[in-house]
Amino acid sequence: VRRLSAEELQTLRSIVGDPHVLVDADLTSGYSVDWTGRFQGSTQAVVRPGSTREVSRLVSWCLEHDLALVPQGGNTGLVGGGVPLGGELVLSLRRLGDVGPVDGASGQLTAGAGVTIAAVQAAAAAAGWAYGVDLAARDSATVGGTIATNAGGLRVLRYGATRAQVLGVEAVLGDGSVVSHLGGLLKDNTGYDLAGLLCGSEGTLGVITAARLRLVPPLGERVVALLGLESVAAMIAAVGSLRRQLPALEAVEVFFSDGLDLVCETFGLARPFARRRGVFLLLEAAAATDPTDDVAAAVGALPGVAEVAVATAGEPARQAELWRYREAHTEAINSLGPPHKLDVTLPAAAMARFVELVPRVVADAAPESRCWLFGHAADGNLHVNVTGVDPGDDSVDEAVLELVAALDGSISAEHGIGTAKKPWLGLNRSPTEIQAFRRLKAALDPGGILNPNVLLP
Ligand code: FAD
Ligand code: MLT
Ligand code: ZN
Repeated sequence: VRRLSAEELQTLRSIVGDPHVLVDADLTSGYSVDWTGRFQGSTQAVVRPGSTREVSRLVSWCLEHDLALVPQGGNTGLVGGGVPLGGELVLSLRRLGDVGPVDGASGQLTAGAGVTIAAVQAAAAAAGWAYGVDLAARDSATVGGTIATNAGGLRVLRYGATRAQVLGVEAVLGDGSVVSHLGGLLKDNTGYDLAGLLCGSEGTLGVITAARLRLVPPLGERVVALLGLESVAAMIAAVGSLRRQLPALEAVEVFFSDGLDLVCETFGLARPFARRRGVFLLLEAAAATDPTDDVAAAVGALPGVAEVAVATAGEPARQAELWRYREAHTEAINSLGPPHKLDVTLPAAAMARFVELVPRVVADAAPESRCWLFGHAADGNLHVNVTGVDPGDDSVDEAVLELVAALDGSISAEHGIGTAKKPWLGLNRSPTEIQAFRRLKAALDPGGILNPNVLLP
């Protein structure tokens, strides 16, 4: 990595202002390691632009000086894609924090890339709307980061992933040019869908600076239920049946007894049921009128349900308690040391086989490890987390991802490829597809300066 000269640092300061170029290790270290602690990089400078124009000037300058950069939002990504593993400069977009007014007629708002998802949700709610994406990292994850990863989360079943919320973006391409299409027209077949292309591009094609987001009607009446099930087969059948019989269904999440034990021990929570159960489904239904009776009827019709705990619309604290059993998995697992996080999708027909095989595959690859499973059941999306393995030892990643591919699944459901899964992109994508990816990258980032160590093998 080429050292930046004092003059070059001065140029960066002249673009964004002195306080927004961080060079002391004390200040840059938090931007250099990922949320899990598995991916540790280093950088000579973190640059924090305050406008699209400043982003454009920075990218142009980096291209001229052949310096690579890593765009970063909330740094909650889980695949090592937002940290400077190759010594790149970090371009932190958090200062792009403006939230525009909600357009009540269209149900849309424009937000800067650095706005957190919690802030988008709050702005939408204040205007009588809601935002369709929700995830446990809501207080830190940003609009730009969730677009760049096409984040999924807890409401994909009802509203789709982030791509389905994005009506337009403003972004700086790798040559410093600004593309901006924030009009928010619902029907707009005027050529290539650049916004759609940037969704899931992981900072490799452009730096997103703002987005026009679709909002959804708020559904005031919510019911949360936790089901203890007798088997994985019962869980899979339940998901299909609930989707068919409960139109108000908004989330269906899965976890297992060992994960629940870990969460309860780590956070000192009371167990939801007196008897230990193998598999759990957490479901949430939301509607304009109280869906409790519909939930009771749909759950009552399910075979293989051993226990049920329900929190009705009038019990928000109890609802939060039930959600905590699921949402706290990420932090509880991280408290055991940096995990290997494998976020995968399986076809419904292969899910039971995968749940049976994956612990064996993990144990063969890393006998001292522990394997934790949880995820978004309605999307066929399981998070396979493995603890007790050296951060640099990829053998368990390879074994799990090969099993996923053999079962026709996706090696990245919602977190992206990042650096963590880059060697295995070929398990899901053909050489011609990867070649097309490279051509797109070369067209939009001709100098190869935008997140050069991510996504493409
Ligand atoms: P970062 O981590 O900063 O960056 C992620 C990627 O996006 C990097 O490749 C980076 O270079 C790029 N990037 C960031 N900002 C920009 C920009 N403005 N322009 C171009 N590229 C950019 N993810 C899910 O999908 N579903 C979940 O349910 C979920 N739950 C989570 C729960 C917890 C507790 C945690 C810690 C993470 C969770 N995640 C989840 C992962 C993470 O929150 C998402 O990937 C999120 O989209 C990352 O947003 P961020 O702003 O933190 O991005
Ligand atoms: C989740 O569903 O909780 C997130 O994707 C985070 C994780 O995988 O740990
Ligand atoms: Zn998830």
